[in-house]
Amino acid sequence: MSDEIKKGLLGIVVDETTISQVMPDINSLTYRGYAVQDLCEKCTFEEVAFLVLNGDLPNKKELSKFKKEIEVNRNISINLREIVKHMPKKAHPMDVARTIVSVLGLEDKQTTDNSPKANMKKTIRIFAKTPTAIAAFFRARKGKKIIPPKKGLSFSENFFYMCFGKVPSKDIVKAFDVSLILYAEHSFNVSTFTARTITSSLSDIHGAITGAIASLKGPLHGGANEEVMHMMNKIKTPEKAHKWINNALDKKEVVMGFGHRVYKRGDSRVPTMEKYFRKVSNAKHDKKFVKIYDIVKNVMIEKKNIHPNVDYPTGPTYHLMGFDTDFFTPIFVISRITGWSAHVMEQHTANKLIRPLSKYTGSDHRKVLLLSQR
Ligand SMILES: CC(C)(COP(=O)(O)OP(=O)(O)OC[C@H]1O[C@@H](n2cnc3c(N)ncnc32)[C@H](O)[C@@H]1OP(=O)(O)O)[C@@H](O)C(=O)NCCC(=O)NCCS
Repeated sequence: MSDEIKKGLLGIVVDETTISQVMPDINSLTYRGYAVQDLCEKCTFEEVAFLVLNGDLPNKKELSKFKKEIEVNRNISINLREIVKHMPKKAHPMDVARTIVSVLGLEDKQTTDNSPKANMKKTIRIFAKTPTAIAAFFRARKGKKIIPPKKGLSFSENFFYMCFGKVPSKDIVKAFDVSLILYAEHSFNVSTFTARTITSSLSDIHGAITGAIASLKGPLHGGANEEVMHMMNKIKTPEKAHKWINNALDKKEVVMGFGHRVYKRGDSRVPTMEKYFRKVSNAKHDKKFVKIYDIVKNVMIEKKNIHPNVDYPTGPTYHLMGFDTDFFTPIFVISRITGWSAHVMEQHTANKLIRPLSKYTGSDHRKVLLLSQR
């Protein structure tokens, strides 16, 4: 057994997966073999969610059945609605999202059944209900009436409807759908590995996703999309962007939305999201954030050779769509539930307890003194 420490599991391959493949050398990300860029242009989020969960793209009949299953499971219990309504208004929505999935686990009759069939049923329920509860908190904390889901709307349309009471133009809905497709899955990232680690003790999917949400919240992972917006708000205007970013680099600050553990020459999801960010900016007749975006990006690449990751364009895109900044990462959650669930199911079908070793560097062996002797 080697004593070499690979801090952060850097470069370590810990298991096999059939769900997605990240190929940084050729700047490619595939879900079940399909390039994510291709999926964004040709599919809806529901089709991609089906693909991630089931291994193949649906035909018309399968898609219609899948959409129906989501639609009939969208309503949340009165109990959960009341819990959400009474959450502290200042609570971070990611902590609320984490609690929502935990409560869904308390309410689900199959929580402890880890069979493939039960796991898929539970996945559908978590996937369908979590956005409803998150949207309920979006409104409840502002003292607004909670809007229940509406039949006949797509996943993205319904989320807008539950948050704002109306569905925006097709362009905006498409950009949101694309962001969800790009956020759906990304191999063994921190939150997915957390979900797999929890699952490896033969724990259940609600627990695994609750833990994954806690992991996603961190600014080095999903929380970065929120931090990007804070940064852009601090920069304020395109005229101040050059000075701001040069200053940050001089002070050796970590610039949010840049860098990646796996992609060192650019995140394969960025060109697609950037295209839709520009579309949303045009549709909203607001160029300020695109200008700041371009200046900061160019300086980061020129000076540091560090490229943006997907959270860099999604942050300002969600802002332009009207979402509160602290809801950006919960939006990531409603999409990544698909990837996490697929990994939980994969882990359950070929499980091995995840239990690494550590090198001890603490005190030498010593005797316990009685309290009166210390
Ligand atoms: C994502 C991230 C944690 C990857 O970390 P990592 O693989 O462990 O790489 P490191 O943090 O060791 O970075 C390597 C070098 O690049 C620098 N670097 C990486 N990302 C940077 C960033 N966003 N801003 C400034 N410098 C950065 C580091 O300071 C380090 O420099 P050094 O070698 O001089 O110390 C890191 O890039 C980061 O903190 N990014 C900002 C948060 C973010 O956007 N997260 C979302 C990821 S999808």
